[in-house]
Amino acid sequence: MKFIPFFMSIIIVALLFVPSIKYSIAVDTSSIAQSQNLPFGHTIVSPTGIFELGFFNLDNRNKIYLGIRYKSFPDQTFVWVANGGNPINDSSAILTLNSSGSLVLAHNKRAIWSTDSPKQAKNPVAELLDSGNLVIREKNQEGEGEYLWQSFDCPSNTMLAGMKIGWDLKRNVSRSLKAWKSDNDPTPSNFWWGILLHPYPEIYMMEGEKKYHRLGPWNGLRFSGMPEMRPNPVFNYKFVSNNEEVTYMWTLKTDLITKAVLNQTTQQRPRYVWSEVENSWMFYSTMPGEVCDHYGFCGANSYCSSTSSPMCSCLEGFKPKFSKKWNSMDWSQGCVLKSPLTCKDDGFVPVEGLKVPDTQNTTVDESIDLEQCRVKCLNHCLCTAYTNSNISGKGSGCVMWFGELLDIKQYPTPESGQKLYIKLPASELLDHRNKKSSEIIFSTCIVAASVMLLLAIYFVYRRNAVEKLLKAEKEYESYVNDLDLPLLDMSIIIVATNNFSVENKIGEGGFGPVYWGQLASGLEIAVKRLSKRSEQGMAEFVNEVKLIAKLQHRNLVKLLGCCIQKQEKMLVYEYMAHGSLDYFIFDPAKGKLLDWPKRLQIICGIARGLMYLHQDSRLRIVHRDLKASNVLLDDNMNPKISDFGMARTFGEEDIEGNTNRIVGTYGYMAPEYALDGQFSIKSDVYSFGILLLEIICGKKNSGRYRLKETHNLVDHAWTLWKMDKALQIVDRDIEDSSIASEVLRCIHVGLLCVEKYPEDRPTMTTVVLMLGSEMELDEPKEPGFFTKRESIEANSTSNSRSNAMSITLPIAR
Ligand SMILES: *[C@@H]1O[C@H](CO)[C@@H](O)[C@H](O)[C@H]1NC(C)=O
Ligand SMILES: *[C@@H]1O[C@H](CO)[C@@H](O)[C@H](O)[C@H]1NC(C)=O
Ligand SMILES: *[C@@H]1O[C@H](CO)[C@@H](O)[C@H](O)[C@H]1NC(C)=O
Ligand SMILES: *[C@@H]1O[C@H](CO)[C@@H](O)[C@H](O)[C@H]1NC(C)=O
Ligand SMILES: *[C@@H]1O[C@H](CO)[C@@H](O)[C@H](O)[C@H]1NC(C)=O
Ligand SMILES: *[C@@H]1O[C@H](CO)[C@@H](O)[C@H](O)[C@H]1NC(C)=O
Repeated sequence: MKFIPFFMSIIIVALLFVPSIKYSIAVDTSSIAQSQNLPFGHTIVSPTGIFELGFFNLDNRNKIYLGIRYKSFPDQTFVWVANGGNPINDSSAILTLNSSGSLVLAHNKRAIWSTDSPKQAKNPVAELLDSGNLVIREKNQEGEGEYLWQSFDCPSNTMLAGMKIGWDLKRNVSRSLKAWKSDNDPTPSNFWWGILLHPYPEIYMMEGEKKYHRLGPWNGLRFSGMPEMRPNPVFNYKFVSNNEEVTYMWTLKTDLITKAVLNQTTQQRPRYVWSEVENSWMFYSTMPGEVCDHYGFCGANSYCSSTSSPMCSCLEGFKPKFSKKWNSMDWSQGCVLKSPLTCKDDGFVPVEGLKVPDTQNTTVDESIDLEQCRVKCLNHCLCTAYTNSNISGKGSGCVMWFGELLDIKQYPTPESGQKLYIKLPASELLDHRNKKSSEIIFSTCIVAASVMLLLAIYFVYRRNAVEKLLKAEKEYESYVNDLDLPLLDMSIIIVATNNFSVENKIGEGGFGPVYWGQLASGLEIAVKRLSKRSEQGMAEFVNEVKLIAKLQHRNLVKLLGCCIQKQEKMLVYEYMAHGSLDYFIFDPAKGKLLDWPKRLQIICGIARGLMYLHQDSRLRIVHRDLKASNVLLDDNMNPKISDFGMARTFGEEDIEGNTNRIVGTYGYMAPEYALDGQFSIKSDVYSFGILLLEIICGKKNSGRYRLKETHNLVDHAWTLWKMDKALQIVDRDIEDSSIASEVLRCIHVGLLCVEKYPEDRPTMTTVVLMLGSEMELDEPKEPGFFTKRESIEANSTSNSRSNAMSITLPIAR
């Protein structure tokens, strides 16, 4: 009995000394070296400081976990937890890298968690990478495949970029996401997401052994149940199926921060993206996304379509197993064949647009084609359906189903899904053909009837009045355009613009910066992020934007939607690859790309767009900031006016252009607007006149001109006009391609537009007429223009305008 206390004291002394003598503390680095440890209260941080590893607690201070989390995000959730079901209750926790290369988490000297490794390490080091992966490797060996252990191989509930889900067949281990029991209990629950090794493998979301959702097998292009999975500018998807592994992972093409988290509470796997703007995670997408994504919602041999009513239908040639239940919308029992297969006289009916059935009972033969597949399935009495196993290119390989066909979904568009060939007895096939032909006859009748109806309507209208018809057509058009404006989710914009990265920024206007972006569909967009100063209410803003979005004209940039998030307001436009007009006409090299016919086309296009804003649209919008940089060019160099309605939408009181309180740009402002702040459609006409002269001349109005310093383009053009030498202002780049009479007429119209008194200037409707016809034009009167000199003079005189002057003095810096 005596030796026990003695023996105990030796152990205690040894244990007391072990950590302090043999192990040194790892601090402020991204790694733990051999025989170093990480005590409670210390962390290691990945090289660029994104992730940290340490001891953390959730809401209970007596439950301490070793975990990895984003270091600088206010949200403290873990992306990985070592001891999920095994929390530590005090600060005696310590993490050690022992000499053979295992991380050991100990508590009161008792190991409660450790890593295993296929082999012993010589000189191990544990390191936290910027991907969020904690790895153990030989100190002198870097790079994947060399890891002795990695946390990515034992995921918690979170999937990060570069993490593989699925099977390492060489080691016979599977990696899957496991949901937490609850938000503050990281004990792994029985809700998990991983790959089941069917002949045609699939990713499932499972409740224990029960299937809850499946993505569908990888068909060479995407998962059969994920039509939205397409090549895109943000994610790379990678599915590998060979003798060594069956895995799925995604990586990022941009530096977006995103994670997918399996959630027990909601029974979903949402994806979030990090928003720097909001300083929080934004919901991006989720699975299962809709009712039809719930495993087996419709029972065997039927398919689910979320856009149909009822959602479940039996496959062709099948009927409800229990029609009473089925008709009362209990679809769980599914469908059975109307008449049994004979195994002699069978054939196939193709069904399009499907997520293929559950692949548990399948065989795959990648070496044969679709026709050989058909023969093989026909000759196998138990085969119930077949299709290509790889739909990439023309399609290849063969997959055959045996037994019931389960969990099929039909998409609204055939291209979203796949074609499945379903085996039916000959009798049903005959039926199918008859039905097909009667369908054809039926639809032919419908078409014929509608044509006759239309003809009748047409003749009625024609007899009454052709105008009436035209008017109706116009009204119809405006109603068709009466669609609601899509409100885009912030997360979509964040992904599209790579978190508003500097590389995506394409401009900065008076209303805020503009970013280029690309939606998952490939559509390119321009996102205008309005500066935060407006005090306009959200509802008002949305209403205004909705109105603006209804303005549709081929010479206006199309507003695709808007995005609102707390203080952020954003407008999303179609993206114009060629950029703005100023980029061409004021550049000596690029100016050559726009010859006279193109420039004339651009002038006329701008005039039509502006006329629409002033006259034809229901809003009668005054643009107030028409200028070369606000005219964008599409692929065919058609001009499109941008930023229309901005002053109106964004509130006019607190608009801050880059430099002045008045909306507008020095050089384009009509004198009455610049001096009195009076704007009207005629001040837009003035700006148009300036723009027209700039397009012809290839120089900016605000630039200095030869004759005198104070002279600007308008003055210059006017002077030459009076001397009958107006053609001298024409840009050298278009001298060869221009037709003198056309150019002269344009200059003439331009000078009419910039007349001093607004009431003398033509309306845009007249301008469009003058440009497009041979009608006789009035002799232009003296132009009005506004220079710095004049503004100062005006300011020093105490006339009635001085009040206005104090707020309208524009500054050109
Ligand atoms: C902490 O847990 C240990 C077992 O791991 C137990 O012996 C001890 O009593 C617990 N302490 C408290 C304060 O609950
Ligand atoms: C390191 O820890 C692992 C796992 O607990 C254990 O199997 C191994 O024996 C330890 N090595 C040494 C040298 O203690
Ligand atoms: C893989 O491991 C499981 C147990 O986890 C075992 O039942 C199975 O036989 C193993 N497979 C192979 C090929 O070793
Ligand atoms: C699960 O989703 C709910 C609802 O969105 C959320 O409140 C909760 O934090 C999520 N849990 C985890 C572990 O992500
Ligand atoms: C599918 O087919 C394409 C083209 O035929 C081929 O490049 C690709 O490797 C195939 N994919 C799989 C998973 O077999
Ligand atoms: C596959 O076959 C087994 C055995 O007949 C059956 O229990 C199972 O439900 C089938 N799975 C599917 C998805 O049809």
